[in-house]
Amino acid sequence: MTQQLTGATTAAGTGTRWWRDAVIYQVYVRSFADSDGDGIGDLRGIEGRLPYLAELGADAVWLTPFYGSPQADGGYDVADYRVVDPLFGTLADAESLLRTAHGLGLRVIVDVVPNHTSDRHVWFREALAGGGRARYHFRPGRGADGELPPNDWQSVFGGPAWTRVADGSWYLHLFAPEQPDLNWENPEVRAEFEAILRFWLELGGRGVDGFRVDVAHGMVKAAGLPDIGTAEQVQMIGSQTLPFFDQDGVHEIHRAWRTLLDSYAGERIGVAEAWAPSAGRLALYVRPDELHQAFNFQFLRCPWDGAAMRAVVDESLAATASVGAPTTWVLSNHDVVRHVTRYGGGAAGLRRARAAALLMLALPGSVYLYQGEELGLPEVTDLPDELREDPSFFRSAGQEGLRDGCRVPIPWTGDGPSYGFGPGPGWLPQPESWGKHSVAEQTGDPGSTLELYRTALALRRRLAGLGDGPMHWLDGPEGVLAFSRPGFVCTVNTLPRPVELPAPGRLLLSSAAPDISGESVRIPGDSCTWWAI
Ligand code: NOJ
Repeated sequence: MTQQLTGATTAAGTGTRWWRDAVIYQVYVRSFADSDGDGIGDLRGIEGRLPYLAELGADAVWLTPFYGSPQADGGYDVADYRVVDPLFGTLADAESLLRTAHGLGLRVIVDVVPNHTSDRHVWFREALAGGGRARYHFRPGRGADGELPPNDWQSVFGGPAWTRVADGSWYLHLFAPEQPDLNWENPEVRAEFEAILRFWLELGGRGVDGFRVDVAHGMVKAAGLPDIGTAEQVQMIGSQTLPFFDQDGVHEIHRAWRTLLDSYAGERIGVAEAWAPSAGRLALYVRPDELHQAFNFQFLRCPWDGAAMRAVVDESLAATASVGAPTTWVLSNHDVVRHVTRYGGGAAGLRRARAAALLMLALPGSVYLYQGEELGLPEVTDLPDELREDPSFFRSAGQEGLRDGCRVPIPWTGDGPSYGFGPGPGWLPQPESWGKHSVAEQTGDPGSTLELYRTALALRRRLAGLGDGPMHWLDGPEGVLAFSRPGFVCTVNTLPRPVELPAPGRLLLSSAAPDISGESVRIPGDSCTWWAI
């Protein structure tokens, strides 16, 4: 039966600044490209692959931490914020990468990790020796001999969020014990991070174009560090208020950082990695005098279900519009199971992942792509335990170390010891199927996921305004999402079976070819189609 598409509701804002509709490609440095054959991706490797990213159609690249670090948490444990870890290269390599990226018209965003340092940071070493403890959260323990942690907070990676030191006191670490939390009530901490931001904003002259702010919701803790009363705290993140996350005090820090960013030419941006209990609370991080963007984890967490997706889109757009900010869309990153696998894996997972990509690229807002999603890579679920590096794997049986399976090195060629990732094997083994997923194998194949992304990104650029401005829902049968943008309609069939609709316009692009006959079109299950109107 042919279903009618008719109009309803709207959302979104307008704007012209680059970050409002930017496509930002996340590079997980350790796993992108290895130039020197040590099995670990590095800055020179990335620099060599920048033309690929420019040609793919990215506007900016976000690099995960490459600073001096013992790598207890993939570099999110920083011992020296002003150097490049020798694993990844040198400061000169970072400058060269910035120059090359800028020459190709790509902006570069780097991570800043302000919630915690490494336990090898000079400040923490001083603290262990008894000096400068006010930069961290040291407390006496509870119990007759102080043998119990100061409160009941749990680490995000499992186990208590406190570790006891030789003199009997305890320090707070919301993540691994190797990541002591900084005390942001201490002015010295604030001053040091402003200096770190300036260092990177000025590196080599033009500097970086912005920062992804790690744990942007965590720097300020509730006064008195009150107990929570339950050990089930990790499950509460992102849905309920916790005394260590999303405290109002963090906003003053973001306002100060915005003032600092705005004092530099070139629209440098801040992106919040923030877990807030609601879209409304998340929007507070992107008020006009705070950060520019926040990751939309609600979209990432949404199952492949038409009604649920529409609700998340509406809620996200309404929340960010209330503060005049753009929404972001993200399906995968280095902390979650790749979305091909989350959506069911196999052929169905890939079909849905391709459709979800076209959906997010048709929505108003900025888009974050995670390396390898353009190749349709699935999660690697059978890594041997002895090769895993994720600290959550070692501290929590419940989380099963799933963060290594999305960090497997990228395949560039159909063969070779690491499918072109580097001259030798990579730090994690790649499945045999990686060859057929490689950039080389997919290039030029019009049915490939890589070519789908390339075409979609080129069209998104050409159809000026697609990444920003209003959207308008169209009515469709249950399970089908349809919306219009200026001169454009997007239809998504989230059902596993085909649906028949009146053809909304001229076919532009589809994740699975629709069957057009006369005025009507049969849209395959789990697919998304773009139409010109
Ligand atoms: C979020 C990062 O994305 C994750 O990889 C890291 O483990 C935590 N923050 C702690 O820094």
